[in-house]
Amino acid sequence: MSQHPKTNYEPPFNITRASHLVFTARDLALSKKFYTEVLGLVVSDETEDTVWMHGVEERCHHSLTLKKTRGEPVCERVGFRVFSDKDLTRAKAHFDRVGVESRFVEVPYQGRTLHVSDTAGTPLELVATQQTHNRTQTLTHTHKGAAALRMDHYQVLVPDVSVAAQFYLDLGFRISDYAVVGDDKVVAIFMYRKDNPHDMVFLQRSGPRFHHFGYMVQEMHHVVRALDIAGNLGFGANMEHGPGRHGGGHSYYIYMRDPDGHRVELLLPATQIIDIDDEPMRYQVKPGINTNLWGLPPPRSWFEETTPLAGAKITSPAVQGEPFSLEKYLFARQPQAAE
Ligand SMILES: [Fe+2]
Repeated sequence: MSQHPKTNYEPPFNITRASHLVFTARDLALSKKFYTEVLGLVVSDETEDTVWMHGVEERCHHSLTLKKTRGEPVCERVGFRVFSDKDLTRAKAHFDRVGVESRFVEVPYQGRTLHVSDTAGTPLELVATQQTHNRTQTLTHTHKGAAALRMDHYQVLVPDVSVAAQFYLDLGFRISDYAVVGDDKVVAIFMYRKDNPHDMVFLQRSGPRFHHFGYMVQEMHHVVRALDIAGNLGFGANMEHGPGRHGGGHSYYIYMRDPDGHRVELLLPATQIIDIDDEPMRYQVKPGINTNLWGLPPPRSWFEETTPLAGAKITSPAVQGEPFSLEKYLFARQPQAAE
C-alpha cells in the first residue's frame, strides 16, 4: 500500500470550503448570457467591466466574478472561505511564520480578504464574509437554465501532485480519493474541507493551470434543461463532455466551456463524507483506464485545454502519461473493414 500524503487534523486556521472564483472574460455580455441563461446563475451586481453572480441556494454576494479583459482570459483568484475573521488573522500569522508571502487586500462586497499563493503557484483568496442576500432556491418561477445551486469545487493541473497537495493537507484538508502510478507516485488527489469528496482536486499535468470548477445542481432534469437551452441559444457546441458518472462513484456530471473557454462542470449532489474512519480511497492507474463509467471518455481538449492562472509559472512533470481520450476510444471501436 502506498503512503499518501497525510492530513494535519489540527490546522492553524479553519478553511471551510471552496467558495468563489475571479475570471476575466473578453465579452461580458456574452458570458453573462451563458452563465445566467444556461447555468441559471443570478446577477448580484454589475458595472461596465465587472459582473458578480451567485447560485440560487447561495446567500453570498458572489461565487463567480467576471472582469472584462482585452487580453488572454485568465483565472485571477481561486477563493476559499474561512470560518471567521479570526481565522484570517491566524492565517496571516501562519503564512508569516512559515515564510509564505500573503497580504490583506480590499475587494468589493467582501470583508477582510487575504491573498496568498499555494505551493504550486495557484493565486488564492481567503475570506470569511461577503454581503449577503436571501436565497432564491424555492422561488422556482424565477429560475433559469440549470438553476445552479452553489459553487462546489475546483480542479487544478500541477506537475507534482504530492508537493502541491501538502500545502492543503497542512491546512486540514482531508483526502477522499487518490490515484497512484506504480507503488507510490500520486498523480491525482481529491481533497475536501466540507462534507463531500472535493473542494480542491489536483491532477498531474504541466501546471499550475486551472482545469475546471463545479456548480452543484439539484436533479438530472436541470442538466437536461440547461443543455436544451444551450442548444437554443447557440451554446450547443460549448458542451464538451458527458453526461457521465465519475469513476469514483461520486456524481453524475457534464462539462461545458464558457465563451472564453473556462470549463464548468455541472454535477449532482455528491457522496457525503464526514466520519474520521471514512479514510482515503486508493485507485491504481492502469493504461487505457476510462474515468467515465458510462463509456465515452473525455475528448483530448478536456485533457489539454485549460485556463491560465494569473501570474503562475508553468512547469512540466518529469513523466507525462498519455490520457485515454474519446478520440482514442472511438478509433479503437471503428468497425473493421469487410474482407
Ligand atoms: Fe469536477
